[in-house]
Amino acid sequence: MDEPIRQFIAELRQCLEAGTFVKLTLGNYKGDDESLQKIVARPVKTKKGHRILFQYRSRTNDRVENFEAGEAVSKIEGYLRSGFRTGHLFTTAKDFQLLIGKRSAKLTAAKPSHSAVKIAPHDREKNYLVDRHAYYLKALGITTDSGQIRNEARDKWKQINKFVEILGRLYDSSDLKDKPDLNIVDMGSGKGYLTFATYDYFLHRSSPPYEGGVAEALGGRGGSLATELDVTGVESRPYLVELCNQIARAGGYDGLKFVPSNIAEFEAEQIDILIALHACDTATDDALFKGISANASIIIAAPCCHHEIKGQMRVPELLAGILKHPVMHERTAETITDGLRSLLLEREGYKTKLFEFVSTEHTPKNNMLVATRTNRQPERENIQRQIDGLKIEFGLESQRLDALLSSRPS
Ligand SMILES: C[S@@+](CC[C@H](N)C(=O)[O-])C[C@H]1O[C@@H](n2cnc3c(N)ncnc32)[C@H](O)[C@@H]1O
Repeated sequence: MDEPIRQFIAELRQCLEAGTFVKLTLGNYKGDDESLQKIVARPVKTKKGHRILFQYRSRTNDRVENFEAGEAVSKIEGYLRSGFRTGHLFTTAKDFQLLIGKRSAKLTAAKPSHSAVKIAPHDREKNYLVDRHAYYLKALGITTDSGQIRNEARDKWKQINKFVEILGRLYDSSDLKDKPDLNIVDMGSGKGYLTFATYDYFLHRSSPPYEGGVAEALGGRGGSLATELDVTGVESRPYLVELCNQIARAGGYDGLKFVPSNIAEFEAEQIDILIALHACDTATDDALFKGISANASIIIAAPCCHHEIKGQMRVPELLAGILKHPVMHERTAETITDGLRSLLLEREGYKTKLFEFVSTEHTPKNNMLVATRTNRQPERENIQRQIDGLKIEFGLESQRLDALLSSRPS
């Protein structure tokens, strides 16, 4: 069992010393980290010299870290002994494949699939998924004529990229991958930053219009391109709808449109992916309800302005000494609201995740709730007990999503 791993590590050390290291990937992860999927390591040149860049690919995001060669070798060895079942090492001399089974491991060598080592500069700009030369970014004032990110738009730029990264991950692990048509609705689209980015991402998924980027480093965005892409932004403010439609027309973005409508009144025939970022207060619930009713495969929301629960929350005696502080009261109301939404989604057959979307340094509204439809029967009774318990404990009379779901004809 140990010998093939030792040999694989020896080959890695040797190719790093000889300067023939091209790339290494670790996959088929079976370890303790629930979201980790894959690690890709490749050489990069940083200000401090040559390093090995590790890209940690997980279900909801990507993270990168640089290591010196020796440290990188120890890390790889550790990962191979703690859950990764496959390792592929690409050198200009040979390719190596390591397969680790329950009781034994096997190392095989093959002809090299790379003839040269590419050392990328560790340019942060290049690690973005969004094409900064896209027309809509310029039209919305994110970039300059030459494609540079405006200083004042850096936070928005980061947010858009993070969002697209999360969206891509969810799509990759969903049943939508092989669907020939894709219907996406962005509720409360505002100035359309995310709607345009979503459209552009899916339009160019299989053939990015630019070089570099996380996608390329991870072996291309992969997957098939939906032949019919229909993206709709729903927004109550008509002047924003007009602005976005003008940009969509000027950019030649067929299949992308913005409609003036209240979320609750918007009727969609089909929704595969529902997006609702920072739709205020209970508009998030209206959007989630539309997604659930349309049986959307993926729902992504970043709730904000949690007024509904805050206004009616009764403080349990046990928490009185803590929730007397307005900031704690407010955060608890947010937690209860989003927690209830996540439980309701689970009761309706979704798998959910709540996490920090981007750091608070970039936006104070940073909680993200993602839901993916599963084929498994939800434990409805158990979930309902938790929902009822929360409602009783905090004296909640009504929560919008709960009420909408209850009002459906049975
Ligand atoms: C804070 S902005 C967020 C825009 C965009 N989703 C983003 O994250 O960049 C929220 C937008 O939702 C719109 N909105 C809020 N409630 C809505 C509703 N019930 N129906 C339609 N649009 C709504 C607002 O007009 C506003 O443009």
